[in-house]
Amino acid sequence: MKATVSRHAHFNAAHRLNVANWTDEKNEEYFGPCNNSNFHGHNYELIVSLTGDIDPHTGYVFDMKELSDIIKLNVESRLDHKNLNLDVPIFKDLNPSAENISKIIYDWLRPCFNSKLSLKIKLYETPRNFVEYGGQ
Ligand code: NI
Repeated sequence: MKATVSRHAHFNAAHRLNVANWTDEKNEEYFGPCNNSNFHGHNYELIVSLTGDIDPHTGYVFDMKELSDIIKLNVESRLDHKNLNLDVPIFKDLNPSAENISKIIYDWLRPCFNSKLSLKIKLYETPRNFVEYGGQ
């Protein structure tokens, strides 16, 4: 019997979306305010979900305190109150879109869990815009 457990976390970060080999005009037209050369912030809401078997002894899929600690250590400590373009090395050459941030969070968290557990990342960049990534 399988169930999905989820932990809601958040972080605040600044970013700028830009494609280096496009002109300034094309970048501004495509990314709009997210291309602001002086950066801008988002209040990111992150939902990390694990799907797996319910342990017959504990009744848990995964310990939520442990999940919270893993997210703090591997994600929040690296992204919270950071300028993603300047402070987080992986985004030096990778546009810090919500899609790419979700993929990077997935890659950081995947090794923390048994491969029998499936992992899904849901990342809200604004209350209305969100991305889901599950490793495909
Ligand atoms: Ni933005």
